[in-house]
Amino acid sequence: MNTIGVIFDLDGVIVDTAKYHFLAWKNLANNLGFEFTEAHNELLKGVSRVRSLEILLDIGKTTISDTKRQEILIKKNEDYLKFISKMGPEEILPGAEKLLDTLDQLGIKYVLGSASKNAPYILKKVNLFHRFQGIVDGNSVSKAKPDPEVFLIGAKKLNLKPESCIVFEDAIAGVEAANKAKMTSIGIGDKATLSEADYNFNDLTEIPENFFEKFLLKKTI
Ligand code: BG6
Ligand code: MG
Repeated sequence: MNTIGVIFDLDGVIVDTAKYHFLAWKNLANNLGFEFTEAHNELLKGVSRVRSLEILLDIGKTTISDTKRQEILIKKNEDYLKFISKMGPEEILPGAEKLLDTLDQLGIKYVLGSASKNAPYILKKVNLFHRFQGIVDGNSVSKAKPDPEVFLIGAKKLNLKPESCIVFEDAIAGVEAANKAKMTSIGIGDKATLSEADYNFNDLTEIPENFFEKFLLKKTI
């Protein structure tokens, strides 16, 4: 059995859904009467839907009733699902399938560790669901990233110690969660934004062919 395993975030790592989350939140912010920029959006990446709304309302310095909050959360997901329903394998991010192939060849198991409650649906839309050893999503956790819970459950599914897991993340909250879990964190995206990660790459095409060798040689990370 391999002594290491991989946990993948979904949105912004495996599939290009981060842009749809952004569009749906931006739309809502504009309807509430304030601007919502890509820089603001970084704070929402990796964060649960409910927490995202809290952050968004803080950005707009806006308070609304609980009823209105519930309405907005439903509307956000409806808008998001309109984008998602049109997705297909062409929206798998560059390098993702090749990376899964490499892991398969090396016999390294991988699971999903996503904050999204839509994760299983999305993975099925892009025809990758069957490839994962397990799925941990927004329905499986009680504490959202940056809490490490999602990744610790992932390690259990891999039957590995947290120290033996490598996490691929595009979100500040996700890198923080991986670090808290004492896993190796790989930041995918802007290096300055994800400066807390152990390794940084702009995207998955940049992962060297032999990247996992050093971890396998060490047996445990
Ligand atoms: C994360 C995204 O993967 O999932 C966040 O990075 C999103 O932007 C979160 O808020 C929850 O997703 P969903 O699909 O349950 O609204
Ligand atoms: Mg993400």
